[in-house]
Amino acid sequence: MHRREFLKSSVMAGAMFAFSRKPSFAESIDARIEVLLDEPIATISPNLYGHFTEHIGGVIYDGVWVGENSKIPNQNGIRSALLEHLKQIKAPIIRWPGGCFADSYDWKDGIGPVNERPKRTNFWETESDAARLHERGPQVFESNRFGTDEFVQFCRLSGAEPYIAANLRSLSALEFDHWVEYCNSPAGSTALAEKRSAQGSPEPFNVRYWGVGNESWGCGGNFTPEDYASEFRRFTTWVPSYGVDLQFIGSGPNGNDIDWTHRFFEEVFSGRPYFNPNFAGWSVHHYAWNLSRGKTQDWIQAKGDALAFDDVDFYELLRESDRIEQIIGDQWAAMGQFDAEHRVKLVVDEYGPWYREGSEVDPAHIFGQQITMRDALATALTLDTFNRNADKVSLATCAQLVNNLNALFLVHEDHFIATPNFDVFRMYASHQGAQAVRAEFSAPSVNYHRDGKPATFWGLEGSASRNQDTVTVTVVNPDLANAKLTEIAIPGARIDHATGSVLSARDVHEHNTFDRPDNVRTEKLEATVSERLVRVGLPAASVSRIDIEVK
Ligand code: AHR
Repeated sequence: MHRREFLKSSVMAGAMFAFSRKPSFAESIDARIEVLLDEPIATISPNLYGHFTEHIGGVIYDGVWVGENSKIPNQNGIRSALLEHLKQIKAPIIRWPGGCFADSYDWKDGIGPVNERPKRTNFWETESDAARLHERGPQVFESNRFGTDEFVQFCRLSGAEPYIAANLRSLSALEFDHWVEYCNSPAGSTALAEKRSAQGSPEPFNVRYWGVGNESWGCGGNFTPEDYASEFRRFTTWVPSYGVDLQFIGSGPNGNDIDWTHRFFEEVFSGRPYFNPNFAGWSVHHYAWNLSRGKTQDWIQAKGDALAFDDVDFYELLRESDRIEQIIGDQWAAMGQFDAEHRVKLVVDEYGPWYREGSEVDPAHIFGQQITMRDALATALTLDTFNRNADKVSLATCAQLVNNLNALFLVHEDHFIATPNFDVFRMYASHQGAQAVRAEFSAPSVNYHRDGKPATFWGLEGSASRNQDTVTVTVVNPDLANAKLTEIAIPGARIDHATGSVLSARDVHEHNTFDRPDNVRTEKLEATVSERLVRVGLPAASVSRIDIEVK
């Protein structure tokens, strides 16, 4: 992406903003955004705004599922507050049942009469976070109370499409076919359709999206790319379709491992090429976890704290999150060497910051962590990156929806809060299905000191889309110290009026708690229109959305 350095019209005015977190503005302009309507990128798939729920810690049990007989308001056992909030953000798709859990899960355990479902050991039982659990709860021993029917019900009630990750490590290709059959075979057609019907669903679920394994380079089997490619061919050949346009998603690299992608694609597309029109997506996982400032790659040592962080940690987390743009570009190029027409698109089905344990709202919530304004900025810049790459990324699911990593919700028993990430998803929802267009964000870089050495981070970044007469611009101001008076220009368009909303806080450590559930919430952003320009004041460390009516 081209980025022009913005020449400030007044150095003095800039100095006035330094060290102020308040959006107070002098007359001169700090930044400029130019929306280029005649440079369309692609339609933004609503599926870029998806979510992920795994059988881990407090995600399913406590998070999603409370049970039909619970005093917590629920619909068929599913937490009502969660369903209501998912509708507000137009949640398009939900991935389940893992994650690493997927490759140890036998879907047959989770169907049929509830009291006949077997109790099994959860994949995460060996995780050090689980070891500290003194109770033998569902985090350690899976009850299978929540299975395929309950998941599809969860999706239907929240308005989302189901995306199921299949077990490639420890189940057979035939069992994969049978899971598809259970979900999609027509009413009364097969023994599995009868079983589904006996559970109250005679009509097929019509599940389109199927992950073929998860992290097959690691917990999903420790395969080599060549061996995984061979399994992938076997699992995806002649899967019964029942008229559903199945979308198979291959298990892609860890971060930006180009070697994994290169060798998988070479194996699948060269030599004896495998043309399967249902091979639609290549999954990428990107967690921002290394806050060691380059000192270590150790998975435990390198992690930072969700709540206790300094200014350098703040920029470090944004920098780590921002690597997603490079990953998308590099992976796309590697795939293109073998799939020149790019029939296979990128699917970023796990992303978000990952901190050390300690801020979870309940000890049973493995990988649970608090979500501050810092995380809201990281989520927003990631979603903007997806919008800017709408031609390459077809689906993304944030890891994870509730009580885990980059959560939109933190809940325990009858307590429920929406984190600042929820606000980001609500603000960005209007990009769904709109036409992404190129936009240039010009602002002076942020300068700071990183362990005694000068460091910089970009000054303003975001994305733009058009839906009929409405142009939506979303923008992240990462600057901890400076608000930015920003002009938005849309060459060739007559601007009618503009409205805005902004997510910011007195301090980037701010977050919501059960006692202060609305401590951080979106507010109205003043947007003025004059001389074919929109003018907004973007507070320090903020996420904003501006809707501009054009003619
Ligand atoms: O989201 C938590 C875990 O992170 C997932 O189970 C796995 O796929 C990834 O390593």
